[in-house]
Amino acid sequence: MAMSRRFFLAAAGVAGAAAGTGLLSACSSNSQSAVGANGAPGQLEVFSWWTDPGEKAALDSLVSVFNQGNPNIKFINRAVVGGGGDAAKAELAKRLAAKNPPDTFQAQAGQMVGDYITAGQIEDVSFLYKQEGWDTQFSQKVLKLIQRGGKYYSVPVDTHHINVLWSNPKVCAAHGVSAKPASMAEFIGNLRKLKKAGDVIPLAVSLDPGQEWQVKHIMETVLVSTLGADDWAALWKKGADWNTPKVTTALNTFAEIMTYAPGTGSTVTGWDQVCGLVGGGKAAYQIMGDWVEANFTVAQKLTPGTDYSWCAVPGTAGTFLFACDCFTLPVGAKDRDATIAWLKTCGSLSGQDSFTTVKGAIPPRATVGADERTLFSPYLQWSLDEWKKDILAGSLTHGVVASGAWNAAVDAAVTAWLSDHNVPKLQQGLVAAAAKFAPLAQV
Ligand code: BGC
Repeated sequence: MAMSRRFFLAAAGVAGAAAGTGLLSACSSNSQSAVGANGAPGQLEVFSWWTDPGEKAALDSLVSVFNQGNPNIKFINRAVVGGGGDAAKAELAKRLAAKNPPDTFQAQAGQMVGDYITAGQIEDVSFLYKQEGWDTQFSQKVLKLIQRGGKYYSVPVDTHHINVLWSNPKVCAAHGVSAKPASMAEFIGNLRKLKKAGDVIPLAVSLDPGQEWQVKHIMETVLVSTLGADDWAALWKKGADWNTPKVTTALNTFAEIMTYAPGTGSTVTGWDQVCGLVGGGKAAYQIMGDWVEANFTVAQKLTPGTDYSWCAVPGTAGTFLFACDCFTLPVGAKDRDATIAWLKTCGSLSGQDSFTTVKGAIPPRATVGADERTLFSPYLQWSLDEWKKDILAGSLTHGVVASGAWNAAVDAAVTAWLSDHNVPKLQQGLVAAAAKFAPLAQV
């Protein structure tokens, strides 16, 4: 039976979406879990940083699928406010140190999951891969990122697209600039024109303390734009060289772009509020991951193509910068059986479709069938196509290429740059971070 994104929104209880949650059972492949089936009521504490209305709707949609097979397990939503997850990760670190883990927590495939493996904080879940056949169903690229020593740790639930330039096409048209600039030079020319007009924010990003990740997100896309996927990947391996003229050029381009990003004021800080400026016609462009689409559609009720548009960050077409959200089985999880039931939902076709179609993400599976594809929005169908044909590159800001410690050192360099705007010093900071952390890189 063909489902629609509106259907999943309805299942998640989002007002205005199609009613009729009875359809849900038709797409759910979950069998009843042991916890629920033996009559003993259980509970499950799920830790994430999904609190924006779009993120919450996607989580609710996934929970509806989970509830179908696990009616006796009470879902406890332990989501911590703060886009990009910095606040959540800090709180989680305290809980893990106190040996009081949630039953499962959001992590990102790659070095972030690697940190938890190294610390001995998550369990090997290879038995689930064998049971469910996931090692042949999921994308091999994603599978590599959650493996250590041939064992699988964590279960991916989505793939996000990181190098996306979002725009308000009406604002762009009114100012005579393209909503989809094809090159960095054209993009910078457009930003200049918008700044001169003086009535809109050319590039929306929060510059407030605690939001450095938004700036780092822009920086990484500009590095990929200037360096290309291979040189970008080399920056995260042993022997990484950040002291090159190409990196200097990229950082100067980043600094130039940021002269058109005046900040968004102290009342607009979260990425979701920032995309409210784009959707509301107060800003022209935003560089952000595709969770933005969920905010445009769920919170702002906008129409793709007319109210917002998208393209690859100029200069990155052909490269898909990505991140994957995963869930884990923490060592010492109190409700282990319930966690395993949750992980099964996260890895299932119905779980992943119900979640990703609402979240503004694509499933982390090797293939998406023709019927399944129709569930996805026009933006997501574009993303599915790009994933198939592009070179894949891992995200820095969203956990793929660098450990938490290396990320923190990059954050410090970006934070310093935000106050002194000194590009050579920024590059030195990044060179120093690489000198310290590249030798420890797992790749
Ligand atoms: C996560 C997304 C989340 C976004 C904004 C990213 O790091 O991968 O799932 O929506 O942060 O909070």
